[in-house]
Amino acid sequence: MNKVVVLTGAGISQESGIRTFRGEDGLWEGYAVEDVATPQAFKINPDLVLEFYNQRRAALLDKNIVPNAAHIALCEFESKFSGEFVLITQNIDNLHERAGSKNILHMHGELLKVRSEETGEVFEWKEDLHRKSHPQNREDLVGTMRPHIVWFGEAPFEMITIEHALRDCDLFVAIGTSGVVYPAAGLVHSTPKHCRRVEINLEQTPVSPHFHEKRQGRASSEVPQFFQEILNSL
Ligand code: OAD
Repeated sequence: MNKVVVLTGAGISQESGIRTFRGEDGLWEGYAVEDVATPQAFKINPDLVLEFYNQRRAALLDKNIVPNAAHIALCEFESKFSGEFVLITQNIDNLHERAGSKNILHMHGELLKVRSEETGEVFEWKEDLHRKSHPQNREDLVGTMRPHIVWFGEAPFEMITIEHALRDCDLFVAIGTSGVVYPAAGLVHSTPKHCRRVEINLEQTPVSPHFHEKRQGRASSEVPQFFQEILNSL
């Protein structure tokens, strides 16, 4: 086995205390994520959209939010595996980085970054973001800042690198993702014929039939166990 590609979704961070998008805890102030995470919503009601991400950012920075055993297992696998390892995440949190993973592609952006819609410049950001916020000494950017997040209707980041990574992978593992948001849900179709496809989730998803194997259970127990099995089999 030369190349392993992992796709993670909100389910891997759920046990760290981060809300998923579509579970029982999925609604925010009565809004579905599809009604808040759009360029249209940002145009019509920017304060609402900024508040959605301000709350999520503040929650992520809570000192009780730490990587769990699943994040740590992926980092350990990456460091022990002699082949190529690529971690594609839909998550906008930084728990993979904090667990120590290295080769991470954030296809839906990052909560702790903001960017100027006008210049495209990206900045690290830990505060609340308001309409008049601007990075230090950059008053010229007032009124142009937005979360560095991919909204519905926008193209995900890193798609060329992602498609390239999938083309010749030998093992593809999707962890804690509901399989309803495209193109992420369709990445399984970009894997080659010989590739072993494994889905780890609490429940069945609409894309489950496209995987060879299903590990049903919590990411914090299934992920360490599965990747230990892989290391043992090498
Ligand atoms: P969802 O909230 O849609 O789905 C989370 C999935 O994780 C569900 O299938 C759950 O069954 C599963 N799950 C929950 N807890 C779990 C646990 N402890 N162990 C294993 N599985 C668990 O999250 P995503 O699929 O990541 O995009 O959502 C995809 C995208 O939709 C997000 O990246 C976000 C959202 O809109 C953007 O913001 C662009």
